[in-house]
Amino acid sequence: MRACDDRRPWWRTAVVYEVYLRSFADSDGDGVGDVNGLRSRLPYLADLGVDALWVTPWYPSPMADGGYDVSDHRDIDPRLGTLADVDSLLAEAHDAGLRLMVDLVANHTSAEHPWFRAALAGGRGAPERARYFFRDGRDGGDRPPNDWISAFGGPAWTRVREPDGSMGQWYLHLFAPEQPDLDWDDPVVQEEFDGTVRFWLDRGVDGIRVDAAPALAKVPGLPDAGHAPGALFESARWVDNPHWDRDEVHDVFRRWRSISDGYDGDRVFVSEAVVAGPERLARYVRPDELHTSFNFDYLRAAWDADGLRAAIDGTLSALAPVGAPPTWVLSSHDETRHVTRFGRAASGAATMGFDAAAPTDLVLGLRRARAAALLTLALPGGAYLYQGEELGLPEVEDLPEEVLQDPTWERSGHTARGRDGCRVPLPWSGDRPPFGFTADDVRPWLPQPESWRDLTVAAQRDDPASTLSLYRRALRLRRTLPGLADDAPLTWCDLGEGVLAFDRGRRFRCIVNLSDRPVALAGQGGPVLTSSPVAADLPTDTAAWLRTD
Ligand code: GLC
Repeated sequence: MRACDDRRPWWRTAVVYEVYLRSFADSDGDGVGDVNGLRSRLPYLADLGVDALWVTPWYPSPMADGGYDVSDHRDIDPRLGTLADVDSLLAEAHDAGLRLMVDLVANHTSAEHPWFRAALAGGRGAPERARYFFRDGRDGGDRPPNDWISAFGGPAWTRVREPDGSMGQWYLHLFAPEQPDLDWDDPVVQEEFDGTVRFWLDRGVDGIRVDAAPALAKVPGLPDAGHAPGALFESARWVDNPHWDRDEVHDVFRRWRSISDGYDGDRVFVSEAVVAGPERLARYVRPDELHTSFNFDYLRAAWDADGLRAAIDGTLSALAPVGAPPTWVLSSHDETRHVTRFGRAASGAATMGFDAAAPTDLVLGLRRARAAALLTLALPGGAYLYQGEELGLPEVEDLPEEVLQDPTWERSGHTARGRDGCRVPLPWSGDRPPFGFTADDVRPWLPQPESWRDLTVAAQRDDPASTLSLYRRALRLRRTLPGLADDAPLTWCDLGEGVLAFDRGRRFRCIVNLSDRPVALAGQGGPVLTSSPVAADLPTDTAAWLRTD
């Protein structure tokens, strides 16, 4: 934990490591990562130097969307562990100096949730249907009630067969059909989630990630959104959309904030909100709402100095008036891994695995990814790391079609492969799959490439030039270097076109060279860490941290 200013809540500057649980570490030999696997690797995470973990949903789930289809928000899926395991995890993480955040999926339940089953079984007019969006179809019932679309492709409505066998009403799902949307105007829904928030805070979690936060309110009457045929779920472009980023979502966050404020220990909410620009995002982190938010403008930016600077400036200036700290993130379980993105000609991220396949240069991508790590970890505020980025893992783009599980693959009519390629289980050790992820004779739930033998934790741990060593050093320095450790404000310096250079206070400078010419380091300070070997000049696609005192 940080030593500098004990009054500052930990989450204002925390580096949070995303654990995609089923791909992290498997303790029981079923090929799927689990809570006890994570427990066994806590020493690795503490040694890496992160401050907190965010664990993706571990609740009972039919796994239609990797656990984001929850059938019981207050229990653990037996394939992943038990509540007792989670209690042990929490205690051990805290002992290791790591905080722990859980994922709250409140926009929808699983279609297997008891509420939805009751809504189906009760038929038209059943009170349980009021917790979801059941509506009659248009044109005598055969067409969906409106033109809303699913994030995974296709319409956001599915028609049900009524208990008497007839074709009946439609229900809304902004994600997969197995994830029916809840109607947040229903007091029963609100109260149920108050209880769920309390359940996890009572258990001792340090924070809660709010999944799909902008989806929690819909315009009454559910009018058409005006989506063009075949439109993608590009919520970063939507303005005044009837099913996304409505002002009423903020009532929910105020309600949750008033609950978390009653707890000790600086509990934090982080919102997942892909909305139209930093000003809209700032509304999620007003003083009586969620504390922090992911920053998708930064994540989606291409490897381009002007674009990155615009994302950084836009974030800082939008968040300053509401007093919320920025966060920075390069990858997640929903995006093409940035080593692969940064090696492409078009290096920005697309939405929900809808990236067009494009050739990539992984040597270039890794070089840029290492520079991007130093940029990200030198910015004010907090940062999110996605498991495996500290190993420099690329996207696995050649998974056989028969193993693909992401709903995007089916829903896009097999045109978009979806997000499985960033979810391949981690390589820990050894020279062949499963690389220590699970028992030697077991196949992980997604196959790992043979080429990952050079990228395992064991292969990188003692190599000072490895990506893992770079992250470990950067995370340690972040806790001690003046300017970084005290979260000093950022001031840009002009080192010419294509170069991002900024100071944090008077004693720290970060330079990232995205231009095609070397940048002279003379007079810039003493390098303490560089993303690639450096002599007198900083080469293209390289970053340096320098002490300027
Ligand atoms: C969020 C999650 C994503 C999931 C979706 C639906 O975007 O990060 O993985 O598919 O919500 O819950």
